Amino acid sequence: MRLSFLGPPGAGKGTQAQRLSAARGIPHLSTGEMLRAAIRAQTPLGREVQGFMRAGNLVPDELVIRMLRERLRQDDTRPGFLLDGFPRTVVQAEALETFAPLDRVLYFDLPEPELLDRLADRWSCPKCGRVYNLRSNLPRAPGVCDEDGTALLQRPDDRPEAVRVRLKVYHAETAPVLAYYRARDLVLTVRASGSVEAVYERILGALGKGAPPGRSEEAL
Ligand code: AP5
Repeated sequence: MRLSFLGPPGAGKGTQAQRLSAARGIPHLSTGEMLRAAIRAQTPLGREVQGFMRAGNLVPDELVIRMLRERLRQDDTRPGFLLDGFPRTVVQAEALETFAPLDRVLYFDLPEPELLDRLADRWSCPKCGRVYNLRSNLPRAPGVCDEDGTALLQRPDDRPEAVRVRLKVYHAETAPVLAYYRARDLVLTVRASGSVEAVYERILGALGKGAPPGRSEEAL
């Protein structure tokens, strides 16, 4: 199973990817999270990308392609992987085709007002990356991560001005990626409104229906 979750910022890709990757035993590879980890560690890559990310712009293709390609060389990706946030440009999709072609792309469909609400209420753990929401997914103790007790923060790119840029970039650069995979008949669309549980059930249903003939949903 080589899957990618595609959709606008705040659609719930990371939330669902964590769950599906745990259930299927395949790694969840979030390029956003990898880049944030590089910024936290202040590696040369982290220092190079932090300005782009803070403003809501995409990181240059060659940097993110190289980073993902190196990660996909690790053994844990042999049984499959779940990409979250990659590819985000047609250049990235074409590059991926040369080293790890996808089996399926799940497109998260959510109206813009709901995206904005979800992003405005998102808090996350700067240590482990776990995501919370003030309305729909509260931590057990206010303001601290359930996993490691770290104080939760809002992402700098969830400021309204950066969110506006991210949505614009999404429509200009990432929507064509959806067309790229639709032309190859790889896209399953999932309605991303409703509870986390309801969306997860729709994802399982979409993957089941999307199974190639002779393969069960579990095989996907
Ligand atoms: P990235 O981290 O990938 O951000 P994104 O795509 O904008 O996606 P988000 O993380 O904002 O949203 P999500 O869909 O994962 O939603 P979540 O599950 O958190 O990228 C960040 C930046 O990194 C980019 O702007 C770019 O600079 C750079 N970058 C990354 N990849 C790149 C690439 N390939 N090329 C170039 N640059 C790249 O959910 C959102 C909120 O909603 C949470 O609070 C959650 O708890 C809540 N929620 C989730 N599901 C539900 C539900 N069903 N009901 C109610 N609330 C829900």
